[in-house]
Amino acid sequence: MAQKALQRCLQKGPSINRKKALVLRERRSSSSIETMTPKEILVTGGAGYIGSHTVLQLLQEGFRVVIVDSLDNSSEIAVERVAELAGDAGKNLAFHQIWDSECLNFVPHRFHAVIHFAGLKAVGESVQKPLLYYNNNLISTVVLLEVMAAHGCKNLVFSSSATVYGWPEQVPCTEEFPLSAANPYGQTKLIIEDICRDVRKSDSEWKIILLRYFNPVGAHPSGYIGEDPRGIPNNLMPYVQQVAVERRNALTVYGNDYNTKDGTGVRDYIHVVDLADGHIAALRKLFEDSGIGCEVYNLGTGKGTSVLEMVSAFEKASGKKIPLVMAGRRAGDAEIVYASTEKAERELSWRAKYGINEMCRDQWNWANKNPWGYGSPESQS
Ligand code: UD1
Repeated sequence: MAQKALQRCLQKGPSINRKKALVLRERRSSSSIETMTPKEILVTGGAGYIGSHTVLQLLQEGFRVVIVDSLDNSSEIAVERVAELAGDAGKNLAFHQIWDSECLNFVPHRFHAVIHFAGLKAVGESVQKPLLYYNNNLISTVVLLEVMAAHGCKNLVFSSSATVYGWPEQVPCTEEFPLSAANPYGQTKLIIEDICRDVRKSDSEWKIILLRYFNPVGAHPSGYIGEDPRGIPNNLMPYVQQVAVERRNALTVYGNDYNTKDGTGVRDYIHVVDLADGHIAALRKLFEDSGIGCEVYNLGTGKGTSVLEMVSAFEKASGKKIPLVMAGRRAGDAEIVYASTEKAERELSWRAKYGINEMCRDQWNWANKNPWGYGSPESQS
């Protein structure tokens, strides 16, 4: 299989530096931060929602970035826009479209660290197609780790998820809580966390940070990059946004009989810009703390918000009415999930700055400017 993938890569060829705007290579920024720390970061899945916001922040912080992304669930337009938003630092970004982590062997760079976002993430689909999820998410991560080890790059930040807390017995969730997975997608996150711990145990040169994201929402304040799911959105805010721009008729609220303030599910929504900032904090930790092994941190705000509160904040921000249809609970949904943020605050010196009003303002700004995401009515369902 690896051989096949290799051939596929060679035939199609990773689309190295196709867009002039994305080429970095020789020219280096003269910014003082970069002169002091000219670190080069490989970002898998960097064209995606969280990836693109993180890449922008990395460039703004003076890092050089190489994105590898299959573009299966993301758009090259996001990469172009990140390069534009970054201004002069945009020249420090390169993009390679690759299909398999074997292809990483062909990326002609040496990296100081890897941020690994790439992976499939639709919970429902993972239940229908578990082998696709195990194959894609697990195998690609193992190959990535092998390639990293072969190239002597042993600094990794991995995108885990609050989904590993399952239905928590109490809140806020601390990193020490027992873990469980309600579906194959969650299972891949759990297994990858374990793989990372094993890898570190086997070789003390590895430094790995596992970031458990709570519920990322919002968009860059420019309204230039944001979330653009393919097909019918599974998550709350992308769905709300599509109702607001009249791509969908009404939001189905999954359950109003939970033991919560208004009966609807409670989550810890976090602005994607804060989340991106959490990755910069994690990288700094990797580079500056020689004693770090494999550590896990929650990235959330520590505040719980119900579905109805979120809808109401969005209506206020957008001036749009979101029609609701009440329905039964969605299988696998927990009642209340929010983060303990103490460990990230203490050890990463990071905390979220934005509240739900800013999240909804920026989500709406993105939706209003890009009602069809990066595509057009013809390209989207
Ligand atoms: C979901 C996934 C989780 C994944 C995360 C990624 C499930 C069961 N969980 O988390 O594994 O890591 O997305 O972002 O899919 N809601 C509605 N109507 C909708 C959509 C959602 O009422 O159309 C409600 C849900 O019941 C929940 C809240 O909104 O109470 C948030 O849902 P969602 O955005 O899907 O996030 P999670 O369920 O927390």
